[in-house]
Amino acid sequence: ESLDFSKLKLDDSLEKPVKSKIVKAYDLKNQRVKVAGWVHRLRLSKKLAFLVLRDGSGFLQAVLTGDCALAAVNLTLESSVYLYGTVKPLPEGKSAPGGVELSVDYFEVVGLAPCGSDSFTNKIQENADPSLLLDQRHLALRGETLSAVMKVRAAFLKNIRRFYDEESLIEVTPPNMVQTQVEGGSTLFKLDYYGEEAYLTQSSQLYLETFNAALGDVYCIAESFRAEKSHTRRHLSEYTHIEAELSFIDFKDLLDHIEKLLINVVKYVLEDPIAGPLVEQLNPGFKLPEGPFIRMEYKDAITWLQEHGIKNEEDKEFQFGDDIAEAAERKMVDTIGKPILLIRFPVAIKSFYMKKCKDDPRVTESVDVLMPTVGEITGGSMRIDDTEELLAGFKREGIDPTSYYWFIDQRKYGTCPHGGYGLGTERILAWLCNRFTVRECVPYPRFSGRATP
Ligand code: 4AD
Repeated sequence: ESLDFSKLKLDDSLEKPVKSKIVKAYDLKNQRVKVAGWVHRLRLSKKLAFLVLRDGSGFLQAVLTGDCALAAVNLTLESSVYLYGTVKPLPEGKSAPGGVELSVDYFEVVGLAPCGSDSFTNKIQENADPSLLLDQRHLALRGETLSAVMKVRAAFLKNIRRFYDEESLIEVTPPNMVQTQVEGGSTLFKLDYYGEEAYLTQSSQLYLETFNAALGDVYCIAESFRAEKSHTRRHLSEYTHIEAELSFIDFKDLLDHIEKLLINVVKYVLEDPIAGPLVEQLNPGFKLPEGPFIRMEYKDAITWLQEHGIKNEEDKEFQFGDDIAEAAERKMVDTIGKPILLIRFPVAIKSFYMKKCKDDPRVTESVDVLMPTVGEITGGSMRIDDTEELLAGFKREGIDPTSYYWFIDQRKYGTCPHGGYGLGTERILAWLCNRFTVRECVPYPRFSGRATP
C-alpha cells in the first residue's frame, strides 16, 4: 500500500513552521520546523517510516506516520525534500544526531532520485573498482566518509589561517601561471602561453620571497601542479600547497616555527566542534603529538637505515648522498612512531636555492617533516641570500637564470637571511584522518589518467 505524494495535505491549523538548517534545529525542541535536505537513509516498517535527512550541516532522524508513512513508500535515497514537523527530545535510552527526532506531519518532494539500476546505491557500491568510483566522485562525495574528510579539510584550512594570523603572517595570492621552475624540470606542466612557454606553478616559493620586503612574513594557500608520472599513495598532479616565507630568521627559528604550526593547528582542529569529533570517527584514538619533535640529521638517518637493514632504491645498503625514497622513509618513521624533523640534506639531492650549512658545506639548512603512516608532509629550508652563490646553484642544476632576474634581485636590493616551507594539505590530512592515500583527502583527485569529473 502506498500513497501518491500529491495526495499529502498540509494542515494549516498547525503552528507556522520555523525554517531551519538541521544543526540549528537540534536546539528547537518542541517547535514546529521546516527543514530541507537529501534523504540519507530510509527504512519502512508496517505503519511507520524512519528517514535520516542530511543537509551538510548535520543529520536529522525523522519519523513518519499515517499518510506520510504511506507516501514514503515512493521515496528514494538522495531525493531532495522539505520535511515539516515537530522537533522532539529522544525517548530515554535512544540515540540520534543532536539528541532529537523530527515527528513529521507533512513533506514535499523537490527532486525524486531514480530507483532501480540507476539508483544512488547502485552507482557508488562500496567494493566497486576504484576507477568506477572515481567516475562517480560527484556522487561519492555525498558519502559519510568522504564528506567527513572534506569537513576536516575545511577546518584545517580555516585554522591554518587562524595560526598565521596569530603569528602575524599576511596572506598573498601569487600567480599560478609562471615561467620559472622551483622543484626540477621533470615534473613541470607546460602550457602554451600566447605562443610563449609557461608552466603551471610547482610551488609559489619564489614569489613568496619577493613579498617579504614588501609586506613582511607571508603565506599562501594555492594549488601546485606536478606532472608525477608514477601512481603512489601520496602524489597528486594538483594539490593544495600551504607555503610560508619568513625573513630575518635562522634555521632554528624556522624549525621551531614549523613545529609550533603543526602542533597548534592540529590542536585547533581537534578542538573544533565539527571537525574534532570527525577526526575521532575517522581515526579513533588519535592523539595530538607532543613537542619537541625529534630532530634527526640526514646522516644519522642513513646510519639508522643501515643499522635496520633497510635498503635503498637499488636494493643496496644506504650511503651518504642517497635520496631516501618513499618506502624507506615510511619504514623509518613508522618504526620510530613519532613525527620527525629530518634536517641537513646533502646539496646534491636538494633544490638550487637551498643555503649550505656553515659548519659543513656538503649539506644544506633543509628540513622534511615526516609523519607516521604518510612520511613527508612538509619540505622547507633556509634560502641562499647571496647573488653569486645563487647563480652557482642555478649553474649546478643546469637552469638558465635569465627568467629568474626578479628572484635574483631580492639578493641585490636589501638581501636578508630568510627561509620557508611548503606543506601538502592532502598529506597532512591523510595522517590526521588515517586515510590510505591522498586521493581520499581531496574532492576531485588529479593524477595521470584522471581529470574527470
Ligand atoms: O618538498 P616540496 O617539493 O617543496 C617545495 O615545493 C618547496 N618549494 C616549498 C617551499 O619551501 N615553499 O613540496 C612541499 C610539500 C611536500 O612536503 C608534500 O607535502 C607536498 O608539498 N607535495 C605533494 N603533495 C601531493 N602531491 C604531490 N605530487 C606533491 N609534491 C609535493
